[in-house]
Amino acid sequence: MIVLGIESSCDETSVAVIKNNILSANLVSSQDFHKNYGGVVPELSSRAHLQIINPLTKEALKKSDIELKDIDLIAATAGPGLIGALLVGLTYAKGLALGLNKPFIGVNHIEGHIFSGFLMQQKPEFPFLCLVVSGGHTLLLLVKDFTEIYKLGNTVDDAVGESFDKAAKLLGFGYPGGPKIQSAAQFGDVNKINFPVAELKDKLNFSFSGLKTAVLRYVQAQGGIDKLTEEHKNDIAACFQSAAVNALTKNVKRALEKYEVKSISVVGGVAANNHLKSEMKKIAEKNKKSLIVPDIQFCGDNAAMIAFRGKSLYENGIRDTLSSKPFPALNENHFLEMYS
Ligand code: KG4
Ligand code: ZN
Repeated sequence: MIVLGIESSCDETSVAVIKNNILSANLVSSQDFHKNYGGVVPELSSRAHLQIINPLTKEALKKSDIELKDIDLIAATAGPGLIGALLVGLTYAKGLALGLNKPFIGVNHIEGHIFSGFLMQQKPEFPFLCLVVSGGHTLLLLVKDFTEIYKLGNTVDDAVGESFDKAAKLLGFGYPGGPKIQSAAQFGDVNKINFPVAELKDKLNFSFSGLKTAVLRYVQAQGGIDKLTEEHKNDIAACFQSAAVNALTKNVKRALEKYEVKSISVVGGVAANNHLKSEMKKIAEKNKKSLIVPDIQFCGDNAAMIAFRGKSLYENGIRDTLSSKPFPALNENHFLEMYS
């Protein structure tokens, strides 16, 4: 079975091919120019997707040594994401499916991330605890199988990746901020500043807006960003990162006390963070669970995870129609509720 995957939800255009269960191409074209604007500009993103999607698809087919007619299934991200950006990939994929008379599946981008651990040699075992940490989402999920996903916790305000980006902006590091905070943090003293970690009694939810405000207030109290030395910025980055990671791991520990799982998986852009990975490793070892964190190429937005998710849905009997529409936000009730 040959699956073509297409991703265009934000600032990465990506095309992947899974050929007989082997990933034969996963090409990612990143729109670096957004850094000049301090964040993603939706209209510019859509236009860039439009320019690159066809040549990128041709390149992926060539790399996989296949032609369009060899494809058995086409999967594309339907949402959540920027509506104009989504429209480009989704419409392109539907056009191909219609023209080639092949089945099409619209994939939920978050579900793509959730199952991205299956692109690794060591795969998660069901049931597994999944921490989704990206620029738009922070979710703690109990994944029982490919079609049964329970929501244990969600952020009540900012996503963790968003808080990394905002803290980086306050320190003048530019966008995207996550990797820059990580680099600065390695030279900082983690004990210098005590930033707050939100304690939410309600479910296993997260909150990051208090942390962002604490960084803002701290920088203001020092007389503004211009008064900060590089050493001081490194300390702030280290203390911010430590608090953000604490907020995540605290709930993972609580979930492990409550739910029986075989594996833990950390997915999404922030899963590339070294400090988060090392803290999660300690937790997994202590609880004797396998820990699956995808390689960096599968943490950020990529089409390999979309192709894999499309394939898993198709194999579970899910069929889509060409009338499916793009959607900008994750539906509140998309995942199953856990009542106990
Ligand atoms: O999953 P992703 O590529 O896109 C979304 O679907 O949002 O995640 C992007 C987010 C950004 O907020 C970026 O700053 C963050 O992931 N990120 C990191 C690191 N690398 C990327 N955050 C912390 N540490 C990193 N090393
Ligand atoms: Zn993503």
